Amino acid sequence: MQNDRGQFSSRLGFVVAAAGSAVGLGNIWGFPTNVASNGGAAFVLVYLVLAFCLAYPALMAELTIGRHTRSNIVTALQAIADTPRVRRFGWLAGYCGVVTASLILSFYALIAGWVMAHCFAHLLQWLGFTVLAAWLSEDSLSRNLAAALTFLVLTVAVVSAGVHRGIEIWSERLMPALLLLLVSLIAYVLLQDNAAEGLSVYLVPDFSRVTDPELILSALGQSFFSLSLGVGTMLIYSSYLSHEENLPLLGAQVTLVDTGIAFLAGLLMIPAMFIAQKQGVAIYNGDQLAAGPDLIFRILPGLFESMGNGGQLIATAFFALLAIAALTSSISMLEVPVSLIVENSPLRRKSASWLTGLVIYCVTALITVFFDQLFGLAVTLTTVYSEPLMGIVLCVFAGWVWNRNSLLRELQQGSPEIARGLFWKLWPGYVRFVCPVLIFAAFAQSLLS
Ligand code: PHE
Repeated sequence: MQNDRGQFSSRLGFVVAAAGSAVGLGNIWGFPTNVASNGGAAFVLVYLVLAFCLAYPALMAELTIGRHTRSNIVTALQAIADTPRVRRFGWLAGYCGVVTASLILSFYALIAGWVMAHCFAHLLQWLGFTVLAAWLSEDSLSRNLAAALTFLVLTVAVVSAGVHRGIEIWSERLMPALLLLLVSLIAYVLLQDNAAEGLSVYLVPDFSRVTDPELILSALGQSFFSLSLGVGTMLIYSSYLSHEENLPLLGAQVTLVDTGIAFLAGLLMIPAMFIAQKQGVAIYNGDQLAAGPDLIFRILPGLFESMGNGGQLIATAFFALLAIAALTSSISMLEVPVSLIVENSPLRRKSASWLTGLVIYCVTALITVFFDQLFGLAVTLTTVYSEPLMGIVLCVFAGWVWNRNSLLRELQQGSPEIARGLFWKLWPGYVRFVCPVLIFAAFAQSLLS
């Protein structure tokens, strides 16, 4: 079975795929949105601290468990359990992760569908196909269902091609395109008048806000979602990694790329808002900066449209950037249920991928039709409850359940010199005590508020 599982062909392949999973709508949409609604640079500061001090250690728990057990999250948690009761709990928690990943994918596909539709709408507008462009850019049930379906078909096509030929190769193609588009758009935006005002909102923190509990909580949720934690995605990706690789180093690289791209996305979006304001687009709702869909689908297109016909091409590039980021994340979400099915049933990867994709599309369609009742519920259930709680479970499994010697031996594979470093001294205790307590404190605080 080992050989059937597939493997990343190189260290770079893993880093690009894991970074591709991490970099998604969470970075390019969620992060700037959070910055805008949580007081600008203060949020950026807290986010960076939490990403490295809390999300990175939790990521390491997933990566170590995944590479050691070489299996999907359900089998993995059962494998490191030491008693039948813990094994049953591991089974349950594993399924909770799989359901969470699938549910995230079902609402993610809807948003990614909007993004793709806007991408083609701007392109068609530029080419003069105005009727089709109008249908694609206006909110309608038929457009939403068709766009989400297209996005899910792309996701399934990549996952069904396998770890190396699908996930790795496509991440390696798409991630450089993403970076190139992002950097070009930033260069363009920063050259416009009025960018400086946005830059100062983004980069000069108001230190009185950094202790605001709501801000800290949003930053914690954002950092977990952004690193794809708590649903078994990073766990399954590292299970395809060779034992020769240095895990703490690869984890740090993925965290750096993820936070770096979130930071760059803010550098694009926040100044872009202030340029849009100069051109007559309203960017405040009350005294808050606009955020969410309003920012993405109204303010930015408003800015692009004011640039004349060339603006349509820039808008196309912007939405292509978002769609690419969404695709490299969605394939990693789909890999969670698909790997579980492939490893525990006679179904092959191809059938498992299409079947899971079909089930997920049915949920997406339900969320689309009953949007007001279901969308917020799905987002809250997964990102507010499930991801932090599963984050705690994974840290507890790594820190308490798993035999400590076996954990340390796993860490030493690929990095024999690790015993002399800081990571070795700090991380095992950190993942045992600090991570679960802090995540729980933040979670409890979010429930109480
Ligand atoms: N990290 C992705 C993003 O930032 C979202 C994601 C969550 C991906 C959970 C996989 C699993 O958009």
